[in-house]
Amino acid sequence: MANAGDLFIRIRGLEQRFESHQVLRGVDLDIYYGETLVLLGGSGGGKSVLLKHLPGLLKPRAGTIEVDGVEISQMQERDYGPIRKKISMMFQGGALFDSLTVAENVAFPLREQGLKDNTEIMRLVSEALDIVRLPGQEQKLPSDLSGGMRKRVALARAVVSRPACVLYDEPHAGLDPITADSIDHLIKDLQQNHGMTNVVITHEMRSVFRIADRVVFLKEGRVTWIGTPQELQNTRDPELRAFIEGDSGDPW
Ligand SMILES: Nc1ncnc2c1ncn2[C@@H]1O[C@H](COP(=O)(O)OP(=O)(O)O)[C@@H](O)[C@H]1O
Ligand SMILES: [Mg+2]
Repeated sequence: MANAGDLFIRIRGLEQRFESHQVLRGVDLDIYYGETLVLLGGSGGGKSVLLKHLPGLLKPRAGTIEVDGVEISQMQERDYGPIRKKISMMFQGGALFDSLTVAENVAFPLREQGLKDNTEIMRLVSEALDIVRLPGQEQKLPSDLSGGMRKRVALARAVVSRPACVLYDEPHAGLDPITADSIDHLIKDLQQNHGMTNVVITHEMRSVFRIADRVVFLKEGRVTWIGTPQELQNTRDPELRAFIEGDSGDPW
């Protein structure tokens, strides 16, 4: 069993390109158990692409990714199951199946993992809905729910198999500030009360300062800055300052 602060994921020299477009140019990054890491950077800078490597949805062109000391990037597709159980992703936009109920959406990863016992599946679904503060919503359809509730269903789906780590791709996008706050509370709750490691892509500076233990800035396919929210607040780096001030805006 890992302890908070133990090294969890080690990324070295990660490169990715699509045809001739070089997106990641040698990313080095360590992620520790139990932390909330926020990934910042300009749009199109490769943040989503970076995240997709962690559960093996993309394979590096070069470089290594170790999860609990095991190099995952050369693994066969069929061996990724345990990694995806450990590292779960909440996709940009939530990506729920509109024709499936909330319960069927949340149960999806469990069925993919081969779980067949319906009583057990419904128990895990119910627990996941409790965690995201949507108890008893199993039979609703995504179209019955508000944008914030759909995000929470997507989060329930990401946590239903009790991963050690959740990756959030812009969980605040399109949400009003109060709903964004509630997502932040859930992210912190997962960290503090469920021992989850969180990696969050966001542009919401308010959220960054509320949830992050460490902030990583990605630029031109490399990590160019890592620090605490306090260090980010105090930085004199003009580019970071422009990013913080340009994106913070009027929070309400
Ligand atoms: N599957 C793909 N095929 C081709 N290009 C891609 C693919 N995924 C991402 N890209 C390109 O990689 C760049 C980085 O994308 P992305 O990681 O989504 O940026 P962001 O930092 O905004 O999340 C963009 O130019 C995007 O168009
Ligand atoms: Mg993105």
